[in-house]
Amino acid sequence: MNKDRTTVLEQINKDVLSHQCSLRGGCKQAVPGDGSPHSEIVFIGEAPGRSEDEQGVPFVGSAGQVLAKLLGEIGLTRETIYITNVVKCRPPNNRDPLSEEVVEHADFLTRELNLIKPKLIVLLGRHALGRFFPNEQISKCHGKAKRRGDQAYFIVYHPAAALHNPNLAATLKEDFLKIPAVLKAVDNLSPVAVV
Ligand code: URA
Repeated sequence: MNKDRTTVLEQINKDVLSHQCSLRGGCKQAVPGDGSPHSEIVFIGEAPGRSEDEQGVPFVGSAGQVLAKLLGEIGLTRETIYITNVVKCRPPNNRDPLSEEVVEHADFLTRELNLIKPKLIVLLGRHALGRFFPNEQISKCHGKAKRRGDQAYFIVYHPAAALHNPNLAATLKEDFLKIPAVLKAVDNLSPVAVV
C-alpha cells in the first residue's frame, strides 16, 4: 500500500529526531526539514545554527531572515517550499560540518529528496554544493543551473554569506531572481557530466 507523502515525511522526521550521531552530544536537538512535501522546489542549506538548534526548525535565525526576504522577492513563502540541511545537527560553534558528519546524515537527505522528487533543488552555499557536486566551486557556478539525470539543480551563495558582505548580498539576490525562470525551463536544461 502506498503511504501518502505526509505520513512518510513524518517517519523521516521521527528518525531524524531520534537518531544518534557524533554531533548529538553537543547540540540541543536534531533539526528536521520544514515545509511542504508536495513542493516542486527544495532548498538545501548546510547545518543548523544556534537559533535553529534552539527552535528545532531550519533557517529561523539571521540567515533565515535573509532567505525569507529573498523567497518573498520571487513570490514564494516558507510554507509553499521545502527547506532542509545537509547535516541535521548543529556542529559545535557553527564550525563547518566534517565530511564524516555529512556521510552520517546523508541518508536523511536522500530519503527527503526521494519522497518529494522536486523539479528543482536549490543548493545554498558550498556545503550543499559539495554534497552533490564535490568538484565544483561555488564562486564559479553560483547563478547557474545544472541537470544530472532527471534532477535539476540551481546554485546560489549561502544566505549567511550575504549578511556581512554587500557585494555577495547583491549577487545572491540577482541569482535568486533567476529561480522562477529556471523552474519553468527545467525540462530544457542540458545535462552535465556525472561528477
Ligand atoms: N544555516 C544553514 O545552513 N541552515 C540553517 O538551518 C540555518 C543556517
